[in-house]
Amino acid sequence: MSVTPIAASSLNAERVSERVLAHLERGLALPGDLYTDPALFAEEMRAVFQRQWVYAGHVSQLANAGDFLTVDVGGQSVIVSRDRAGELHGLVNVCRHRGTLIVDTPCGNVRNFVCPYHQWAYAPDGTLRGAPRMPAGFDREQYPLKRVHTGVWNGLVFVNHSPGEVDDLGALLEAPDELMAPFDIASARVAHTEVYEVAANWKLVWENSQECYHCNANHPEFIKTFDMKAFVADDDSFSLTFSGDRRMQCATFPLRSGAVSLTMTGQPASRQLLGRFGSGLAPYTAAAHLKPGFASVFSPDYGIVFMDVPKSFDRTEVRVQWLVAPGAEAGVDYDVENLKRVWDQTNRQDWALCQSVQRGVASPDFEPGPLSLDEQSVAGFYHSYATMMAAAGL
Ligand code: FES
Ligand code: FE
Repeated sequence: MSVTPIAASSLNAERVSERVLAHLERGLALPGDLYTDPALFAEEMRAVFQRQWVYAGHVSQLANAGDFLTVDVGGQSVIVSRDRAGELHGLVNVCRHRGTLIVDTPCGNVRNFVCPYHQWAYAPDGTLRGAPRMPAGFDREQYPLKRVHTGVWNGLVFVNHSPGEVDDLGALLEAPDELMAPFDIASARVAHTEVYEVAANWKLVWENSQECYHCNANHPEFIKTFDMKAFVADDDSFSLTFSGDRRMQCATFPLRSGAVSLTMTGQPASRQLLGRFGSGLAPYTAAAHLKPGFASVFSPDYGIVFMDVPKSFDRTEVRVQWLVAPGAEAGVDYDVENLKRVWDQTNRQDWALCQSVQRGVASPDFEPGPLSLDEQSVAGFYHSYATMMAAAGL
């Protein structure tokens, strides 16, 4: 019996969440139309990305008063800024006059944000400071930039565009607190950023990042140090923990004997180690993910942070940062090419796979197949996705 009625639009059939749960119950992958429907994509941006915590950047990118960065939250542009009192603010990047984007750059430093159209000026905390030639009675206090929620976990800054109450970020990420604490992520700095354009639906990109069923066959650099045997055996060296309705998952990564970092050689790529590893703590590698789009993996000498930014039903931008110890110097303590090699190669291999899947699931001949024992995190994602969509009545 088929569980996949193909509708003209995924939104015209039964509720998306129910279809996902029906596939989940049978241990099947999802139907192809959930990856190829522009109308569903638009609903997902509202129901998922504009309702959840989305990673924006590292605190070191917002070290000084007036520093800002912009982030795409389900298609909505948001500014994260630091004001003169040192507070962080999440601001909707839309002018309160006639709607121009206030800033059109990924990051920078301002005294005030000045709208390029008619020069309304906003302080870094969003208050309107100046608006030329407005009529008598115009009250600037009525027109601050609209706000979104901000939260910081271990120096990683998140925003949440949800209009109402939001889940507590600290509570959502409580489970990996202890695991990630020794890396002292808050003190790290961004050594390198790479932005990848992937011609695939955001869910395919996320699913790919959740399983290593494909690793042996596709990631020769990654499995030089990642211990696939221990991973597949599911022994104690790989302890997967879920929380927050499976939106958060964290784990230690099993490395091969003798390896202390996820690098080409298993040896550190940076001579300066992160946090307590610099003081001799026994090395380990660990990951913490928060759906829908944040993933991080930290080794004693460097960390990598992924931010998935959906752009259309078949296009996803993946922004990747490599973090190192605050005092680590490029060309002295690490070589950027060496630092990024394993993940950059692995990423490119993954994107090629995701793009191939995108083309395949668009075929009318595609019928979702059964998930393997090594794809339980993909099933976990289906569960979270169904929950988020159901909460929006979808
Ligand atoms: Fe921004 Fe007019 S639209 S000042
Ligand atoms: Fe992969």
